Amino acid sequence: MSSPARPSNPDLDHLIIVRTRSTLRARVENWRQAGLRIALVPTMGALHEGHLSLVKMAKANADKVIVSVFVNPLQFAPAEDLERYPRDEQGDMIKLNTVGADVMYVPDPEEMYTPNFSTSVRVDDVSEGLCGAARPHFFGGVTTVVTKLLLQALPDIAVFGEKDYQQLCVIRRLVRDLDIPVEILAAPTMREHDGLAMSSRNAYLTDHGRQVAGQMNVALKAAASALAAGEAVGRVADQGWQDLMDAGFDTIDYFEIRDAETLEPLGTGPLSGPARVFAAAWIDKTRLIDNWAV
Ligand code: PAF
Repeated sequence: MSSPARPSNPDLDHLIIVRTRSTLRARVENWRQAGLRIALVPTMGALHEGHLSLVKMAKANADKVIVSVFVNPLQFAPAEDLERYPRDEQGDMIKLNTVGADVMYVPDPEEMYTPNFSTSVRVDDVSEGLCGAARPHFFGGVTTVVTKLLLQALPDIAVFGEKDYQQLCVIRRLVRDLDIPVEILAAPTMREHDGLAMSSRNAYLTDHGRQVAGQMNVALKAAASALAAGEAVGRVADQGWQDLMDAGFDTIDYFEIRDAETLEPLGTGPLSGPARVFAAAWIDKTRLIDNWAV
């Protein structure tokens, strides 16, 4: 499709669907000439309230909001869930229309990654450890696609969720290091009634898995309180790991306390500055992550 098309669903009265970068560029160029401020919210679709809160933040800080929906193959390892990752283009359109996004950008995979695509963008340092250790291919895939999306949309601001806190730090470093002229805004994590961080992958969970999953934020919160009360980092991390095991998680990738800005590991003693507690664990063959500010 080479030109913007109104989605066929009659309920959509505002949102425009765009599938090529040339169409996106033409639209952005018009907005720029009109002096409008543009926001980008990159997503992989299967949108939930967490994503919609990013769109609302984008709307509050810009005149026009583009939401990209692209399940990026580069950030999945061969054995991961690329094929079964939830997809719901029609549902996403309706939700984005309801919250007043202007463009849903759904790039064709062939246009994003041509057959001889041979470039990757890699951010060292903050990408190491945590999810970078557990999923070594992941951040390279994210930074490559986010660089492409930023260059395609040329937004003034881009909004990312604190749920993926390490990803947020990696993207901040990316735009700083490469002088990409975009302001990165961080939106707080949206949670279910029991505190479970909203995630498209929660859809994979059985009833039992869903109950176990709801304990991750409890362990993180307990760790944050213990640290704030002066308990030693090493002991709190061990206890957090044990709490996840007791809750019934199958495998734990990490339960760690790191510097809130540099993501450097902290010693084993009491904290001396702002920190963040991070966890990643598996239940129902589903990997869940979350984090909590201290
Ligand atoms: O957080 C996500 O959904 C993805 O990692 C992102 C930033 C859209 C890149 O594919």
